[in-house]
Amino acid sequence: MQPSNRGTFKSRFGFYMAAIGSAFGLGNLWRFSYVTGINGGGAFVLLYIFFVGAIGLPVLISELMLGKITRRNIIGAFKWKPWGQNPKSRWRWLGVLALLASFVVLGYYTVVSGWVIHFIVQAVMGQFTNPDAMPEYIIDRLMSRGYLQILLAGVHIIFTASIVSRGIQEGIERFSRVFMPLFMLIVVGLVVHSLFLPGASEALRFLFYPDFSKLSASAAIEALGHALFTLSLGFGAMVAYGSYLKPEVHIPSEAVLVAGLDTILSLCAGVLIFPIVFTMHADSGSGPALLFKSMPVLFRHLPLGYWVGVAFFVCLYFAALSASIALFEGLVTYFIDEQKMKRTAATLTVSTITCILAAGSALSGSLFKNIRLGERGILEIMDQVIINWTLPVVTVGLVLFVSRMREKDKEDQFVDQKSLVSVRMFSTWKTTIKYLVPSIIILVFIFQLIVNIFRS
Ligand code: PFF
Repeated sequence: MQPSNRGTFKSRFGFYMAAIGSAFGLGNLWRFSYVTGINGGGAFVLLYIFFVGAIGLPVLISELMLGKITRRNIIGAFKWKPWGQNPKSRWRWLGVLALLASFVVLGYYTVVSGWVIHFIVQAVMGQFTNPDAMPEYIIDRLMSRGYLQILLAGVHIIFTASIVSRGIQEGIERFSRVFMPLFMLIVVGLVVHSLFLPGASEALRFLFYPDFSKLSASAAIEALGHALFTLSLGFGAMVAYGSYLKPEVHIPSEAVLVAGLDTILSLCAGVLIFPIVFTMHADSGSGPALLFKSMPVLFRHLPLGYWVGVAFFVCLYFAALSASIALFEGLVTYFIDEQKMKRTAATLTVSTITCILAAGSALSGSLFKNIRLGERGILEIMDQVIINWTLPVVTVGLVLFVSRMREKDKEDQFVDQKSLVSVRMFSTWKTTIKYLVPSIIILVFIFQLIVNIFRS
């Protein structure tokens, strides 16, 4: 009943680094800073933290558990029954939606990862420290050059595919074990530096003082979507990682560590970026280019700025790479399990589809620049629709599915016999995923629909 040829994570640390690597990516640095900027700061951050605790954590446990019990990809998991497979399962379409979301997000995630490669090259060429260069405009120039972006995205796809094609232990685990700890170290170092910038106190106030009058109308749905996105939920990636877990791994403790560390890293990213934004009197609501406009300016005034600039973008690239690997892996396991492909063929298929989608969003600042919805271009529209609407729908379906799974299977995964607390937490978690998670998400949807109706 279960595919026996699945790899597993060799060590707990390896899984942990891979899961953190999947969660911690461009979402924490690039996306968190720009959506926080657009949505007015502190109050948005508070909403985001609320959604991570109330929805993100219980859903992360559910996704890992679904993968670990069924040992399947997201589509196979939704066909699962304790006594076999139900190919006609009514839940299948949720898996299809999750795969679609993965493809679309991977398409533009690849483009933004390509931007990071461009910034590594610029850093190495000394563009951040050259007094005559204007590093804050590098991103504008890049965004108007569609074909260069396609080329860079292509390079990123080749890197990602070459790691994924080697499989779970050889590629992902070895890679994550080395780079994740290094990146955390560099981020913490830069945060300390940012705290001494002149704009630091204004930035901390912006980030942590909740001024609810500054919340935008779509803040709730954006915060919910971002909480899911940053923990890689609603894509099936965590289901795939759960399916590689060894039987003895205790899911809730892993999930608490992953969610906790990811949130701390997001907040660190905010404390790193906003002091620079306020010090240079830039517009905190300037959208997807925010990180790329602010960071290079920091390096010009920094002792050893050249090297710190190179190190920062190299590490950012590794964060982007490890998250792309997770998205890729979720899709590749689908083609291996359900379409019976070999790993290499599956990797090639995913790469080709991703290339086509990436080209669409890469050209959004040039060839397709007139395709807009209000202020937003193609890249932003795709980002908004998938993250704010599709992920929550998949999430509601997933928790309801997990709620209906056999009690005994869930209990085996959740309850640690040695700890009484885990018995109590088990029933809290069950109630949360059955009632609280769906109700909050539906309320946020209704609220957003009402706001949209009144705005138009
Ligand atoms: N969580 C990643 C980030 O914050 O950048 C994005 C992501 C990675 C989403 C992997 C989904 C996924 F499967």
